[in-house]
Amino acid sequence: MKILFVASECAPFVKTGGLADVIGAVPKSLGARGASVRVMLPGYPALASQIADGTVVSTYDDLFGGAARLVAATDHGIDLLILDAPHLFDRAGNIYLDETGSDWADNHLRFGALSRVGADVAMNGIGDWTPDLVNAHDWQAGLVPAYIKQAGGNGPPVVMTIHNIAFQGLFDSYLLGDLGLSADMFTPEALEYYGRIGFLKGGLALCDKITTVSPTYARELMTADYGMGLEGLLRARQTDVSGILNGIDIDVWNPETDDTLPQTYTARSLKRKTKNRDEIRARFGLSENATGPLFCVISRLTEQKGLDLLLEALPTLVGQGAQLALLGSGNADLEDGFVAAAKQYKGAVGTIIGYDESLSHLLQGGSDAILISSRFEPCGLTQLYGLRYGTLPVVANTGGLADTVIDANEAAILADCATGVQFTSVTTQGVEQAIIRTCDLFKDQKNWAKMVRRAMGHPVDWDRSAEAYLMLFTSVIEDNKR
Ligand code: ADP
Ligand code: GLC
Repeated sequence: MKILFVASECAPFVKTGGLADVIGAVPKSLGARGASVRVMLPGYPALASQIADGTVVSTYDDLFGGAARLVAATDHGIDLLILDAPHLFDRAGNIYLDETGSDWADNHLRFGALSRVGADVAMNGIGDWTPDLVNAHDWQAGLVPAYIKQAGGNGPPVVMTIHNIAFQGLFDSYLLGDLGLSADMFTPEALEYYGRIGFLKGGLALCDKITTVSPTYARELMTADYGMGLEGLLRARQTDVSGILNGIDIDVWNPETDDTLPQTYTARSLKRKTKNRDEIRARFGLSENATGPLFCVISRLTEQKGLDLLLEALPTLVGQGAQLALLGSGNADLEDGFVAAAKQYKGAVGTIIGYDESLSHLLQGGSDAILISSRFEPCGLTQLYGLRYGTLPVVANTGGLADTVIDANEAAILADCATGVQFTSVTTQGVEQAIIRTCDLFKDQKNWAKMVRRAMGHPVDWDRSAEAYLMLFTSVIEDNKR
């Protein structure tokens, strides 16, 4: 089976969030099961060396205002197809935002071009490699089915994967021509969305099947509370929608071999985590003699993640004798809030603003618990890293968080299956209660350690989900032949 992935991020090359981790990991799992996967990515500066060393497989004299080339390269075991279009992608800074923090003004062209070239490869292949199926990820790849349809529809089936419906790629309708799309694409059955062009909307309307990254989010998406306007479309296509839970790359995230940690450890040598905890305390300016658990947060600081609630719950956290180490960046008010909290609760709260991959490993490798207070969370990966590193997840009961953590309620404790703490009311009070409950559980160190060992044994790899993707892809390809 030959599969073309089209996406805007891929770890370890370019990452702003969990999408990159997933795109970096799934092709390997599918590859190990016999599939041939190629990942199409924009040619950002982070991929300059792969572009320089790669092989040009096709060229465009004018792709939305400049020349472009498609370059094949293999790195970290991933077969890449890189869209080298300097006028669109060769610029410093964030891959989505300009220096003022606004979306790049030409994002429609940047990701329209990615989708357009994705559609070309889908229909024509490269050399003797022609995909049997395209898996397009999020709004940035949302126009792939539209370009295939406009060219006559003679292409392989497309599966659209929703990683986060909050980002939809909405643009003014007058840009249709600049995207090389004809007016008959601008209908409610295709790209039109309340008078604008909807990249994700169009993808969801025109693709063959839809997946999202957890079963609970798949259900939530069909409700007005979570669907962000697309719930009607998703309900209308509900038999085409499935939720396949994300896994993690257990080779990259392995506390036994993680060379970014001061001290590696296993479920049988948990005491060795102490050295990592000491290092966190030193780096975050936390005192050494806390009585409660050390919580960490590793997150984009956005409305989605509910960290405004944690800010308000900090007096409770500190009052319980617990500590917090937060690594994150994003919203300026939240950044300022946590920086101020670190001053106010000196020794109990530590904040580092920024994006730091190895520091995120240290936090997983040395904290007692990881707090995730998301208002919605399609899947979430940091709770999975937490499970694997024995850093117990304390999570809102939503999306993939609901599907991956077993709450330490009475039944779960009796049945010996708890792996963390969940809270249902995503409010300040809900976060406070979850913190108090975690601190209480932490007091019983023997049972806490049992829970940690259990968490570390919880399956978080890609095995089950890779099989689920293969089954789905196989059936879509078969259906398409009929
Ligand atoms: P989302 O994709 O919504 O941001 P996920 O939990 O799926 O949420 O994935 C977030 C990914 O980004 C994880 O790999 C996490 O470790 C990483 N991450 C988030 N913020 C930071 C940061 N400030 N520094 C390092 N890694 C971060
Ligand atoms: C999105 C979601 C996150 C998910 C990730 C990877 O960024 O916000 O919940 O884990 O995509 O699928």
